[in-house]
Amino acid sequence: MVDGAALLQARFGIDLPDIDVPPEIAPLLDRRVTRRYTDQPVPDSLLDALLAAAQSAPTKSDLQQYSVIVMRDRARIKQIADWIGTMDWIATAPVFLVWCGDMRRNQRLCEQHGLPHANNNLDTFLNTAVDCSLAMAQFMAAAEAVGLGSCPISYVRSHIERVTPLLALPPGVYPVAGLSVGWPVFRRPVSMRLPPSVVVHRERYDDSAMPDHVRKYDERRRAREPVAPGGLKNNDVYPPREGVGWSENVARQLSVPERFGFAAYLRTRGFDLA
Ligand SMILES: Cc1cc2nc3c(=O)[nH]c(=O)nc-3n(C[C@H](O)[C@H](O)[C@H](O)COP(=O)(O)O)c2cc1C
Repeated sequence: MVDGAALLQARFGIDLPDIDVPPEIAPLLDRRVTRRYTDQPVPDSLLDALLAAAQSAPTKSDLQQYSVIVMRDRARIKQIADWIGTMDWIATAPVFLVWCGDMRRNQRLCEQHGLPHANNNLDTFLNTAVDCSLAMAQFMAAAEAVGLGSCPISYVRSHIERVTPLLALPPGVYPVAGLSVGWPVFRRPVSMRLPPSVVVHRERYDDSAMPDHVRKYDERRRAREPVAPGGLKNNDVYPPREGVGWSENVARQLSVPERFGFAAYLRTRGFDLA
């Protein structure tokens, strides 16, 4: 018997009595990333089923503009973990996937059919990223459904100049995110989300009540899981202190440029972004 009210309370920290949670979607409300894995292997037959589920995600115009690199070689996974340095859940995962946007395959198909590829532009870049993200999300949901855990790793883009040759990524192919995959040692607590009143707009966009709702959200989150100084962003720029809420931590993170060379990288990899 699914307790939808309890799942909503865990996810949002507030009662949402008007929402009726069908049992079929309860696992989606209960999901979370996994950052600690057992030594138990993930069989290829299961991994391939999850990848088939990922490939079943919708894709813009049926263009299927993404690829995924499956890594099982511990030394090669550890290489990426060592570059990143702070995320030991990468090296301990039995499987590491690198989800990539892929403009190249369809460029080759145009060439094969004697036609120009006239869509090397920002829209195509966005479509590759969206296709890739939907497939990764579907993989994560499928993995969670069979008891596996996973954690996306955007930090592969912080070492993109090393990850690109390691994976032999050709021009037109770039990493969107890594994904560590394995059997969870334990399930982390559910991470509290912004209330639907902030994220869901009815008929037209209206963020007039946002500051008040976010202030209350900050308070709820602080009560459940105060941001520890170790979890504070950019501690080297701003002094760490107690009592920082979610929204201030967002501002601390976004006030310092992150991966600002990404557009330049993409241009060197053949993306015009026009
Ligand atoms: C695109 C993307 C990139 C992410 N990159 C990282 C990462 O590099 N390292 C990490 O530990 N978690 C990463 N995460 C996981 C988020 O930190 C996590 O989803 C968020 O804190 C909310 O927790 P939850 O997924 O358990 O609800 C990433 C998630 C997404 C969607």
